[in-house]
Order: sequence, then C-alpha cells, then structure tokens
Amino acid sequence: MTDNEIDAPSEMKADIEKITSLAKRRGIVFPSAEIYGGFAAAYDYGPLGVELKRNIRELWWQSMVQERDNIVGLEAAIITNPKVWSAAGHLDAFHDPLVECLNCQARFREDLLAEESPDGSCPTCKTDRGFTAPKQFNMMLSTIVGPVSDESGRAYMRPETAQGMFVNFSQVQSSMRQRLPFGIAQIGKSFRNEITVKQFIFRTREFEQMEMEFFCYPEDSAEWYEYWKQERLNWYFSLGIRPQHLRLRAHAQEELSHYSKGTTDIEVHFPWGWGELEGIANRGDFDLTQHSNHSGQKLTFFDQERNEHVVPHVIEPAAGVDRLMLTLLLDAYDEEIVGDETRTLLRFAPNVAPVNVAVLPLSRNEKLSPTARSVHDRLKTQFRTQYDDAQSIGRRYRRQDEIGTPICVTVDFESLDDEAVTIRERDSMKQIRVPISGLSDALADSLNSMQPKMTREK
Ligand code: GAP
Repeated sequence: MTDNEIDAPSEMKADIEKITSLAKRRGIVFPSAEIYGGFAAAYDYGPLGVELKRNIRELWWQSMVQERDNIVGLEAAIITNPKVWSAAGHLDAFHDPLVECLNCQARFREDLLAEESPDGSCPTCKTDRGFTAPKQFNMMLSTIVGPVSDESGRAYMRPETAQGMFVNFSQVQSSMRQRLPFGIAQIGKSFRNEITVKQFIFRTREFEQMEMEFFCYPEDSAEWYEYWKQERLNWYFSLGIRPQHLRLRAHAQEELSHYSKGTTDIEVHFPWGWGELEGIANRGDFDLTQHSNHSGQKLTFFDQERNEHVVPHVIEPAAGVDRLMLTLLLDAYDEEIVGDETRTLLRFAPNVAPVNVAVLPLSRNEKLSPTARSVHDRLKTQFRTQYDDAQSIGRRYRRQDEIGTPICVTVDFESLDDEAVTIRERDSMKQIRVPISGLSDALADSLNSMQPKMTREK
C-alpha cells in the first residue's frame, strides 16, 4: 500500500459526546476527581477501562516482544537524570508555538488554531482582536526532587519513554547478548504540558506510550523503516479497526521532530478528521550520538565479523495506549434499530473486548444461581467473564452490548434438566443451545469466528 492509497472512510455513528457519555455510564473512563470538579484533561480509568487498557498493552507486548526473538523489554524510571533531556534535545527543542489572545489572554497552540477556529477569531472569547506573535513553549512538566526546594533539585517527568531505551542501550545489549538488528520495547506513562488539551482522551497531559527502539545497521535502516510501517498497520487491523479508518501519512520536512530523518504517522479517521495514532520515525543515530557525546560513554555495537564499532541507526514505532483506546471505542461504536428501540453496541473484536463472555442466569433465583455460578466458575479461568443477574434479561443483554461483550451465556430453567445453556452472539443476536460439557470449546470457536481476519494487502 502506498502512503496516499486510502479508501473513503465509512460513515461513523460515534461522536465524541456519545463516547464520553457511554464511557462514563459504563465505568470505562471519566473525569479525574470529579467530586472536586475534575482536573484539566485528567481522566481516571474505571473497571472496564482498566481491562481494555490491559488488553491493548498485552496484545502490543505479545506482538512486539513475545513473538520476536530479537526484541526485549525495559521499564525505565519516569523521573531520571535531567542530563538525559538536555542531551536528547528536549530542553532546547521540545517546543510548541504558543500564542495569546489580545483580548482575553487565553493561550493556544498556533499550529492548531486554524483547526479550532477556521474564521481566525479567538476560540474562547470569539472576538477577532488577534493574537500575540508565537513564542516557543517547552512542553516538559517539571518537579523538584529531594528535600531542598530550589533549582538544584529540578527534574522532569519524561515526555517520551524512548530515552530510557537509548541511555540503557549498552546495558541491555550486553546483558541480553543481542546483535544487530535488535529492539528494546517499553510501555509506560509519559507527561507533556500540552497547551491545547481536547477531544476527551485524545490529547492529555498524562498519558501512556508503547514504544520500541529498533537498532539496526545504518545501511539497512530504510528497509526496516518500510518494514515497521507495514507491521504496525497490520497490527491495528488485527484489533478489528476498520481498514478504511486507517491510513499512513508521511511527514513533510518542516513537520519533522528535532531527532527525525523521516516520520510516517498511522492516522485514524476520527469524527473531527484524520489524526495521529502512532508515529514511525527514522531517528538515525541522533540519540545514541547525543548521549555518547554528553555522557562520555561509548554507545556502539562491536561487530566482530567486520571488526568495527557501529553506531546503530534507530527505527521507532511509537503509539499511545489512551489514544488507541479512544480509537477502538469510536471505531466499534454502533447503533441499530431493533423492534422499536435503538440498540447501542460496541462491536469490539473479541481480543480487545473488556469482557468476552458474560454469564447471565435467566433470573435471580435460588434454583438457577448454583448452576449459573458453577458455569461461571468454570469459564472464568479461560475467558474474561462477568456474572450479571441484576434486572431483566433484556436489559442485561443491552448492557453487555453497550460494553462490547461478544457472547452472553444464558442459564435458564431448562438448563437444570437438559444440562445445556443458550449462547447469544452480540452482532447477529443469534442464539444457539449448547451442552454445558462442550461449552468452553463452543465459546472458543464462536470468539474465534468473530475475530476479524481482514488485513489490507501489502
Ligand atoms: N518517542 C516518539 C514520540 O513520543 P510522539 O508522536 O510524540 O512520538 C507517540 O508520540 C504517540 O504517543 C502518539 O502517536 C500518540 O498516540 C501518543 N501521544 C503523544 N502525545 C500525547 C498526548 N498528549 N496525549 C495522548 N497521547 C499522546
């Protein structure tokens, strides 16, 4: 696929208001500390959001680390030696252009202003008195470390996880006896003092990244750059995101970050337009060279066959957990008319769904409960299950549809005689009767058949 070859995005039924409301109603994600009025662009993840995030992380880790022999993991400190940020260029160059409204003094990111207010007026006070000239605003969040509250303790919350992989390059390479090409992967929180935070969890000041630095011979970097673009795009297809909602977009020269020789974004068709989900960057030898110069340590790979030290080049796929969660929610959201009601559902692929099997006794009843509980006990070690016996069965099906549960298992009075249960599939709402003895296999088959197999041709 070329960078520009995209299909027309299909009609999306979700908008950010519907998703924000569903996410709050169903305990997925909601404003942080709402009892105190919340806190600017900070969100807390509820029980189902936690499950969804865990699935995202685990699927990424499986595909990037577990299934590969030459990629290993790392968890570096969030607050580390400030010299890291000076060497990496973040103290000098991690800036966004900030402008201030001449009327109300509200502050905006100049490069996003046209998007927020196409007519050029102030998005806050709506006047057109204009803005100050842009000044560079450093996006790192800082803190003071230690008991003395002065500048000597100034340290930074990492704005990317990537630097952990660069400063630990030699340590990981030698302890794991890795040879080029090899990668170091990390999942963890990053922090940026974003000027403009909006669109729910799309852009926040505290967020989680999944990044991998792939160290290779300089002469192979162009090939690996192409390889990782396709690999990463295919991974999003494997999560069931509709292919027409994804595209690759190469950065223009003037968009490139200070460290990048070339970047391609995997973009998603959000309700407000195309936006970045993941960046794949060719960082060349920028970071290893900088850290080597600043620390005085050699950060090279010794190639015994060539008998020479090589400064590896780096290809970096960098994704956001929270932004992917928003993508999955928007992409899976659907509404359809059933009878005289609107059914709201999340058409999550089974591998990402927070709950993939719900066990529902027909009613809360002392005869049904022991059988339903024992079915649930057997299933919960194999599937991500939920047991729900509150309210009518119809309402419970709707509730499970809304959180994207692919399959519901209903235990009814007949189950007590025929030792069988009904399984109902979310998308088709088809119901079939299955013996309890073969239930695990039947569920595994159904979940497998619901897992999208579609990928776009390379
Ligand atoms: N190490 C390279 C790097 O950090 P980036 O494009 O700035 O690259 C990678 O960030 C990914 O992290 C983005 O594609 C996005 O998914 C996520 N991300 C970045 N800033 C974010 C923010 N303020 N809120 C939520 N996610 C963010």
